[in-house]
Amino acid sequence: MSSDLSILYDNIRWEEKALLEAGKKKNINIQMVDCKKLFLELDKKTKLNFGTVIQRCVSYYRNLHSTAALEGLGVKVINCLNTGILAGNKLFTHMLLQKEGVPTPFNTVAFSQEAALEALEKIGYPQVIKPTVGSWGRMISLLNDRDAAEGIMEMRERMYPIYQIYYLEEFVKRPPRDIRAIMVGNKVVAAIYRYSGDGMWKTNMALGGRAEECKVTNELEDICIKAKNAVNGEIVGVDLMESNERGLVVHEVNNTTEYKNTVRVTGVDIPTQMIDYALQSKK
Ligand SMILES: Nc1ncnc2c1ncn2[C@@H]1O[C@H](COP(=O)(O)OP(=O)(O)O)[C@@H](O)[C@H]1O
Ligand SMILES: [Mg+2]
Repeated sequence: MSSDLSILYDNIRWEEKALLEAGKKKNINIQMVDCKKLFLELDKKTKLNFGTVIQRCVSYYRNLHSTAALEGLGVKVINCLNTGILAGNKLFTHMLLQKEGVPTPFNTVAFSQEAALEALEKIGYPQVIKPTVGSWGRMISLLNDRDAAEGIMEMRERMYPIYQIYYLEEFVKRPPRDIRAIMVGNKVVAAIYRYSGDGMWKTNMALGGRAEECKVTNELEDICIKAKNAVNGEIVGVDLMESNERGLVVHEVNNTTEYKNTVRVTGVDIPTQMIDYALQSKK
């Protein structure tokens, strides 16, 4: 039997359970697909019975490659491969946001340790160094001076080559919070402020931050729509900071966004809106 929708996962979190529950309430034919048990014969032309796939894999590589395979086999995946590639990489996203006129922090990229240290002498400290691919605030460090920069970079030199892409960002002066806005199609369905935990500067919920509802203004929605469209997204989480000097700036667009805390704090039924969106979405 063919499904209306499939949830593709590698880890069942609150988000995936909530999607399944929302689907069941609507009486639609929804299936949970464990990506760890999945194999796909890439050259068989048989019709696959997934319906529209909501991509929820946590693993970046599993997420990207399963999307590529399914999409290539003619399956509609939300978000599409293009979004996975573009939003999954902070530098790729940054360039597109700039092109679309979306306000962002100021960034610099250097392609060796030496060039990065030279860049830092020119742009000045402090700067934030980020992996271009990553989440949950991991491996993001504040470089207050040359000693810190040399220490972090020396470690990076011994890691996987992606860590030798030195992606630097101004340390944005802002209140001790950022904004996570969840977009379903062209609408910000809910947004939260995320406050950093004690003694922390990163506001990721995974690092023990606290959340509060954030009112969705027209300005916030306009910026988020542009940011989502810049990466060709459908259901995304836009991360913004409130720069003291420049107002809202977008620092990230999340391809497979978490939304548990946003539902908890705002009471908005995001999973049902995601299901409704996926059901009406076309290839
Ligand atoms: N340039 C910056 N200035 C100040 N704080 C930042 C900056 N960049 C990131 N942060 C903080 O670190 C958190 C994680 O950064 P982010 O770019 O969203 O990476 P991740 O993909 O790991 O969530 C942000 O939510 C914010 O609180
Ligand atoms: Mg983030």
